[in-house]
Amino acid sequence: MLLFRRLDSAHTHRNLIGQHPLILRIQALIKKVAATDATVLISGESGTGKELVARQIHSLSPRAAGPFIALNCGAIPAELLESELFGHERGAFTGAVGTRHGMFQVASGGTIFLDEVAEMSPPLQVKLLRVLQEREFRPVGSDRSMKTDVRVIAASNKELFDEVSKGRFREDLFYRLQVIPIRVPPLRDRRSDVPLLIDHFLEKMNARRPQGPVRVNDEARVQLWEYDWPGNVRELENVIEQLVVLADGDTIEAENLPPSIRRFVAGKHNPTPALSDEGFDFNRAVEAFENQLIVEALRRSGGNKQAAARLLGLKRTTLVAKLRRRRGGNGVEELTP
Ligand SMILES: Nc1ncnc2c1ncn2[C@@H]1O[C@H](COP(=O)(O)OP(=O)(O)O)[C@@H](O)[C@H]1O
Ligand SMILES: [Mg+2]
Repeated sequence: MLLFRRLDSAHTHRNLIGQHPLILRIQALIKKVAATDATVLISGESGTGKELVARQIHSLSPRAAGPFIALNCGAIPAELLESELFGHERGAFTGAVGTRHGMFQVASGGTIFLDEVAEMSPPLQVKLLRVLQEREFRPVGSDRSMKTDVRVIAASNKELFDEVSKGRFREDLFYRLQVIPIRVPPLRDRRSDVPLLIDHFLEKMNARRPQGPVRVNDEARVQLWEYDWPGNVRELENVIEQLVVLADGDTIEAENLPPSIRRFVAGKHNPTPALSDEGFDFNRAVEAFENQLIVEALRRSGGNKQAAARLLGLKRTTLVAKLRRRRGGNGVEELTP
C-alpha cells in the first residue's frame, strides 16, 4: 500500500489565479524561493491553495524533473507514518515482510510536501528535525543511516506557532520548517479575486460540457462575491462545478445558487427581526442592525475606519463614537485594528 501521491502531470501547469496584492506577493515569493532549496512552511485555512503553492514551487524549481511527493500527516496513523516517511527493513515490525523505501528515498532529487504537519507525533517530529539538519535518516529497523537529497515543503491549517506555545509542536522543528513562511489568505480577505476565479473555473468546467458553455449573470456574481466562502477556493471550485453540471439553460442566475449561499447573502442584507408574543426590545434590535452594518463595513475596508465610515455614509468621528459605545459588546472591537 502506497499512501503518498506522486505529482501527476495534470497538476504541473495549473496556475495560481489571482490579482489581489496578497496573491501577487505570494506569486513573487514562489518565484524567488523556487530557485533555492530552502524549507518552506505554508499556512492558511483549508482550501486556500496551500498544496497548489507547494506544487508551483516544485514546478518552477531546478527539481521540477524530479518527483513531487505529497503526504498528509493527519491522515495516516503514527506507526505507519514513520515507515511511510523513512521506509523499513524486512521484519522491522509485524507485517513488514519486505524491505520498503520511504518517501525520503523515493523523493530524492525532488520535493516532499508534508501536509498537516502539526499532526505529526512528538517522536516523529524529532526524526524529521534530524533529516532537516543532517539530510540523513534511518529506515525503521535499520542500523544504517541513509543520505537524502530532498526539498521539504510543509503546510498547516493550524497556526503552528500556537501549537508550539501549547507544547504540542517542537519549537526547534518549527524554526527549521519556517525558514520561508508563506501565508495564504482566506478567500473572504481577497474578494476581488472571486470574479477571476469564477471565470477560471467556469472555463474549465465549460470545456467539458457537451451542450455548450454556460455563463453566470451579474446578480449571481454579486451574491458569489458577497458570500464568505468558509471552504475557500475549494468550495468555490465545487460550487461552480455543481452549477455547470446542473445548469438547464445557458445562464446561471442567482436563483440557481446553492440555498446555503442564498441564505447567507440574504441574512447579510435584511436581518429580519420577528415580533414575538413576549414583545420586542426595539433598542436592542436597532443596535444589532447598526452593529451588523458596522462590522460589515469594517470588514470590507480591511479595518480602516475612514473607509468604513465612507461606506456607511457617516463621519469618521461618528463611527468612532459608535465603536466606543460598543466597546466590550459584540465583536466589533475584534475587527478594529
Ligand atoms: N489561486 C488559485 N487559483 C486556482 N486554483 C486554486 C487556487 N487556490 C486553490 N485552487 C484550487 O482549489 C483547490 C484547493 O486547493 P488546495 O491547494 O488543495 O488547498 P489547501 O491545500 O490549502 O487545502 C484545488 O483544486 C486548487 O487547484
Ligand atoms: Mg490541502
